[in-house]
Amino acid sequence: MKNNTSDAANTQYTSAETGLTRRQSMGLMLGAAMLPLAHATAANPVVIQFSHVVTADTPKGRAALRFKELAESRTQGRVRVEVYANSSLYKDREEMDALRLGAVQMLAPSLSKLASVGGGDLEVFDLPYLFRDHAEFRTIANGPIGAQLLRRLETKGVKGLAYWDNGFKVFTANRALRTPQDFEGLRIRVQASRTLVSQMQQLRTDPSVSPLINVYEALRTHKLDGQENTPVNIYSQKLHEMQSHLTVSNHGYLAYAVIVNQAFWDRLPDDLRSILEGAMRDATAYANSLAEAANLQALERIQATGRITMIRPTAAEQQLLHTALAPVYQAAKGWIQPELVQSIRQTLGAPP
Ligand code: LMR
Repeated sequence: MKNNTSDAANTQYTSAETGLTRRQSMGLMLGAAMLPLAHATAANPVVIQFSHVVTADTPKGRAALRFKELAESRTQGRVRVEVYANSSLYKDREEMDALRLGAVQMLAPSLSKLASVGGGDLEVFDLPYLFRDHAEFRTIANGPIGAQLLRRLETKGVKGLAYWDNGFKVFTANRALRTPQDFEGLRIRVQASRTLVSQMQQLRTDPSVSPLINVYEALRTHKLDGQENTPVNIYSQKLHEMQSHLTVSNHGYLAYAVIVNQAFWDRLPDDLRSILEGAMRDATAYANSLAEAANLQALERIQATGRITMIRPTAAEQQLLHTALAPVYQAAKGWIQPELVQSIRQTLGAPP
């Protein structure tokens, strides 16, 4: 059974002014109290609170811990990184507010969730069937397009440090999803991205945007009929326990941006900042070396439970889904510049 107690505890005492809980507001006060950063020592370190919404044993969870280990050892304790996994400090939307307020210093949200901090164009990464493999995602993310998209966050006081991989998403539901018609009328959870909402509208579902930590309970109580996510997120959140069918559709890609409060980052002494940048580079390489294998393993583990019917669509079924989702590209012109999509396709050598 799932344990959501930390989440319940967090939501108990929410401040009316900021929407943050007492514990979260404490983080804000502690953040302010640790100034000035320039005099950080092992006895009085700079504290980086790193909040994220998945479990510690996922690629993102493990990479966050690797960053902590590298940052603390390379700064000889002048920096302390506190990692809060599985929404134990903040849920999806709250964590963005907390970052901007300085109540937390580092996050790694999915690219689907960054519109509120100037990252609306990052929803381009949610377009269905945009990438054929992990390498294609990395070509874009680590090239000039990815760098330019991260720079847009700076208008909101947020600095993007790196992209981290997760992988391709699959669908789960309590019925077999083989053709676009099978989706009709289902209430399906998506992340807070206009592209993902549009994707689910094309399939004639009723899209529901909700934080990851709420999905298990919503499936259990039939407030949701299904959801999309990567195998590693489905397995680690135990979502497969609440569903009868999983379709290995690989229809979209989920990845992250590691982001920091810009004012905090700029106030760090140069030597510490450059050590942390090196630690982030190495943690990023680690995250990206784990993700693909972790998703394959999670899919095998889900299958091995024997509790869910695994559907691997035929080429003809994949083509039907592909065709049904093609209009998302047209709809997305309302919030993503068409030139951006075009330059991604060009860079990947895909047809315009
Ligand atoms: C989700 O909300 O499903 C994902 O963004 C969670 C995550 O961070 O991988």
